[in-house]
Amino acid sequence: MTISIKTSAEIEEMRPACRLAGEVLDYIEPFVKPGITTEELDRLCHLYMVDVQGCIPAPLNYAPPGYQPYPKSICASINHQVCHGVPNDRLLKKSDIVNLDITTIKNGWHGDTSRMFIVGEASILAKRLARVTHECLWIGISQVRPGARLGAIGSAIQRHAEANGFSVVREFCGHGIGRNFHEEPQVLHYGKANEGPILEPGMTFTIEPMINAGKAAISELSDGWTIVTKDRSLSAQWEHTVYVTATGVEVLTLSSGAPPCPDSIRIQA
Ligand code: MF3
Ligand code: CO
Ligand code: CO
Repeated sequence: MTISIKTSAEIEEMRPACRLAGEVLDYIEPFVKPGITTEELDRLCHLYMVDVQGCIPAPLNYAPPGYQPYPKSICASINHQVCHGVPNDRLLKKSDIVNLDITTIKNGWHGDTSRMFIVGEASILAKRLARVTHECLWIGISQVRPGARLGAIGSAIQRHAEANGFSVVREFCGHGIGRNFHEEPQVLHYGKANEGPILEPGMTFTIEPMINAGKAAISELSDGWTIVTKDRSLSAQWEHTVYVTATGVEVLTLSSGAPPCPDSIRIQA
């Protein structure tokens, strides 16, 4: 397993991509309302990334081994969709919950972040799932510091999700990121705290827990991309790109509109 270590000069090169990805979510937030389609959200984000930010939407035509090229510029996963939802002409309606996942490429570097949006007013369960999943993201981030084991992240996330009666999707994980969209390591959102490589300053990876209200099992739709819960229960996801600093962690995809770390969670800066 080789995990690339970025120099501080490389981190400076990577910062703009990460900041821009967060800023796309800030930009699109007011549009996520009943009556808009995810195709329209995709179009707005695409134009913003290309024309305003001068960056490349990484998902468009992305084709990892075994996949068809991804047809859109963002992922939009509604309700029981877990991840990689392909934007389409379905209208968002009150009480939908939707994850928008943005990955930018700027000057050859990637930034990857996603948030949950509540369309109008959602059920108590949907709001609790979105909140607990956000806590899972930050609990994962709070484990990151040099000398910690990668497994500490997934272990802490799994404990919090399951303590709240939810389940962790196993088939998809966070990932190293930098010049590549997806690189080593795989960042599991479950598992044992004392497993996995030791974190070192200069590592950059995403943490992006997918948490289901029902069972953990998933299925893939016939479009070859969209992942749904097998039991059609609600699913939520939040994602940040993080950097292991000399002393702790820095979240590279924070932007002014990103919900902050919950007060109860302590981050080692
Ligand atoms: N942004 C997703 C992730 O967090 C990956 C999406 S792949 C795509 O890793 F092709 F669907 F965009
Ligand atoms: Co990611
Ligand atoms: Co992503």
